Amino acid sequence: MNHQSNHQSVLVIDFGGQYNQLIARRVRECSVFAEVIPHTKAMEKIKETAPAGLIFTGGPNSVYDDASPKCEPEIFELGIPILGICYGSQLMAYMLGGRVETAPVSEYGRTLVNTDGSSVLFEGVSRETVCWMSHTDYIAQVPEGFRTIASTPVCPTAAMECPEKKFYATQFHPEVMHTEEGKKMLENFVYRVCGCTGDWKMDSFVETTIRQIREKVGDGRALCALSGGVDSSVAAVLMSKAIGKQLTCVFVDQGLLRKNEGDEVEAVFGPDGPYDLNFIRVNAQQRFYDKLAGVTEPEQKRKIIGEEFIRVFEEEAKKIGAVDFLVQGTIYPDVIESGLGKSAVIKSHHNVGGLPDYVDFKEIIEPLRMLFKDEVRNAGRELGIPEYLVSRQPFPGPGLGIRIIGEVTEEKIRIVQDADYIFREEIAKTGLDRELGQYFAALTNMRSVGVMGDFRTYDYAIALRAVKTSDFMTAEAAQIPWDVLNTVTNRIVNEVKGVNRVMYDCTSKPPGTIEFE
Ligand code: XMP
Repeated sequence: MNHQSNHQSVLVIDFGGQYNQLIARRVRECSVFAEVIPHTKAMEKIKETAPAGLIFTGGPNSVYDDASPKCEPEIFELGIPILGICYGSQLMAYMLGGRVETAPVSEYGRTLVNTDGSSVLFEGVSRETVCWMSHTDYIAQVPEGFRTIASTPVCPTAAMECPEKKFYATQFHPEVMHTEEGKKMLENFVYRVCGCTGDWKMDSFVETTIRQIREKVGDGRALCALSGGVDSSVAAVLMSKAIGKQLTCVFVDQGLLRKNEGDEVEAVFGPDGPYDLNFIRVNAQQRFYDKLAGVTEPEQKRKIIGEEFIRVFEEEAKKIGAVDFLVQGTIYPDVIESGLGKSAVIKSHHNVGGLPDYVDFKEIIEPLRMLFKDEVRNAGRELGIPEYLVSRQPFPGPGLGIRIIGEVTEEKIRIVQDADYIFREEIAKTGLDRELGQYFAALTNMRSVGVMGDFRTYDYAIALRAVKTSDFMTAEAAQIPWDVLNTVTNRIVNEVKGVNRVMYDCTSKPPGTIEFE
């Protein structure tokens, strides 16, 4: 689905920096569509999409190393505005005849930068502003036709411009939060330099996508695996608005969902819900429990749950017969991550990829593959999906299977469901849920001695986890007020049979992970 054909776009040319997704997100927050492209594909993509502007990202290399990533020199001849950031700024300077050197003093972290208010890039920005620096090279001499528009005591060219050619460059990172007025600078670039009008809006995305899905699917049939999570729910609703009953959604209840979740999903997507689609709920709980009996190793549990899911889904798909399209809720960060480099496998889910070959279909449709998570949520709101579904926190595919340490049993599922329900209920009462990336209860495999009334107990310990995170790659344990933890603890030990102890996990990620397994 070719969204950029309907919108002005900015291409973020990736030179290996860590904040590349962030640049695209920030630009989209300005209502301008942005896409991240590997530097090797820059020229091809520019020809294909005729972008309104380019942003060169940072990166770990030094421009004067022969092996460092460069762009085709013709890119500077196309008349397209360019903003270079960090490595991208040095690359611009170097390729246009300036001089880049190792800086006598590296700058790292929050840095006070002096800006020149006569530059359009700094319109509405303070003359002294805090920016995020992270560099060991710097621009020692700007290319001909350029002038310096910002500096720090140790970085003579913290930003430069050549307004005639619409080339701008910053040594600092306007995209990170620590650059206090970075958003304004990016806005200045996309609106005032590139001439964008801010036409990337969720209502037009929804409208265009529905039209494109209709054109693509024609009178064909589509099949969607619905988990009840944000991505698959939004994908399913978009599809159903486009093609109605030509869509079948299969929802596999593997018995590892949160309390009441299966019924909630059915209430929204089932025959009594607002959507016009074919909904099949498969109650496969027992099959999963049988397969998981006696299994304690986390990766093995994941594998069993994943494989059993495929088997159940395959059986349902066979009953439906061949379909033309398989719908997947892939979102943009998945696309970027699978396309740009690979990191070590910590848990198997991080290594997803490839097409399912167990369903007879002709083509994949991924209606959300260009959206960031917050955009998916906004598209969901635009589509009228209930808020509790749209703002739902992430829930792992293997569900409670990886929140029960050790063997999964029905009793343990009941315990963790009930404890988790109480925790979520109390957190929601305080409004803290809006600040938390993820929060849940897990069942440790530990039993310990307690006393209730006059009796000795020997029961399980529940661990509570609540984290703040923006990307789920790193996270910090949230500081939940003591009285909230106290209420949750009292309620869990009193209301959930089989639990006599509650603990709070204070570990950040790294070294911990968000889930326990
Ligand atoms: P970790 O535990 O790796 O979690 O810090 C990061 C994010 O990934 C989710 N997660 C999973 N999602 N299948 C999934 O679909 C899995 O096996 C899985 N394991 C972790 C986790 O909930 C968090 O959002």
